[in-house]
Amino acid sequence: MHAVGVIDWDRRLFDALIPLPHGTSYNAYLIRGDEKTALIETVDITKEEDLVRNLIALGVDRIDYIVANHAEQDHTGSLPMMLELFPNATVLASEKCKELLTLLLQVPAERIQAVKDGEQVALGGKTLQFFMTPWVHWPDTMVTYLPEEKILFSCDYLGSHLATSDLFATDEVTVYETAKRYYAEIMMPFRSSARSHLARVRSLQVDFIAPSHGPVYNRPAFILDAYEDWTSDAVKNEVVIPYVSMHGSTQKMVDYLCGALIRRGIRVKPYNLPYADVGEIARALVDAATVVIGTPTVLFGAHPAAVYAAYLVSALHPKTRCASIIGSYGWGGTTVNQLSEILGKMHLDIVDPVFIKGYPGEADLTALDQLADAILAKHREYGIVASQ
Ligand SMILES: Cc1cc2nc3c(=O)[nH]c(=O)nc-3n(C[C@H](O)[C@H](O)[C@H](O)COP(=O)(O)O)c2cc1C
Ligand SMILES: [Fe+2]
Ligand SMILES: [Fe+2]
Repeated sequence: MHAVGVIDWDRRLFDALIPLPHGTSYNAYLIRGDEKTALIETVDITKEEDLVRNLIALGVDRIDYIVANHAEQDHTGSLPMMLELFPNATVLASEKCKELLTLLLQVPAERIQAVKDGEQVALGGKTLQFFMTPWVHWPDTMVTYLPEEKILFSCDYLGSHLATSDLFATDEVTVYETAKRYYAEIMMPFRSSARSHLARVRSLQVDFIAPSHGPVYNRPAFILDAYEDWTSDAVKNEVVIPYVSMHGSTQKMVDYLCGALIRRGIRVKPYNLPYADVGEIARALVDAATVVIGTPTVLFGAHPAAVYAAYLVSALHPKTRCASIIGSYGWGGTTVNQLSEILGKMHLDIVDPVFIKGYPGEADLTALDQLADAILAKHREYGIVASQ
């Protein structure tokens, strides 16, 4: 197997949504059998030339198969060019991926061979085997197994947005954090699918997991155990607090609540929304038991940054079990109802909000102590804090 993908050190935004503080990579792999040559994935269209150069460097003059595990353009952007350069190449993809490739990239259907779960394609001394893994994170996704080398090509599944010159995930501390963030942003909304495919992967003999973003795992248990934990129902004794404050009232409430929670032995992760990195918030949501949104009332509703945060929390669908709202208003509005409605879709335990008029006084701070007590009681109920 040869790595022929490209590192994108400078990419800073993905899907026009996700900040990439560590860049990313679009991994592609070349497999030469005795009779046939296969390319696993292509790269983002912006890096097409680099892929071609990597193939030239290896003296590749023929490609028989191009495996598209997933139709998203960061992996298939260069597919039309590859099909032009290698007119005899056939794309191997799931039925759903075939449909999406014809729609998104106008790949002619006759150039795509749909493969089924468990199907094998022989390269001569090497075999590609395909396993359908839908919904990590699109309906089309599959993984490709190379039994002779015990490599699993997992595409987005188990990947990380990390530009690094390390081929292997040797720096496990860094890779753990970036893979967790990647899981949070991309896979968490499909937690049950991400979990269900783990058993399949573990049932194969795998020495290497080669995703399409970030380094290759030469110790597969590292990432499989991490996914086992992240996708489990277990929550941690933590409260994530995305908040915004224009003139300091909500800020004071957040600061006070943080102290009150810390005094009760609960870990807090406050995020001041206008300056926060949504990827960090997503990662914190992977295992926090509770989320509290802090916002003032602006133009009769929640601050737009808080609406965005509530919407994001709801869309990412973390395993969070409990939520509340805190903040301040001057004369009136529908802030609490508006945010409750967005968060309501998650079927969480809602602890009574503390929504006060103006700057918090003594009685308001007492209400925040009561909120901290109520959150602690919930965490006891969830079995993550010992009962007294
Ligand atoms: C631009 C702006 C719009 C506001 N709109 C409302 C409103 O529609 N209803 C309301 O009750 N208060 C409104 N307020 C008052 C704030 O909600 C109030 O001052 C609150 O205490 C601010 O909290 P903060 O210091 O955390 O920003 C508005 C304040 C600003 C600056
Ligand atoms: Fe994707
Ligand atoms: Fe991707």
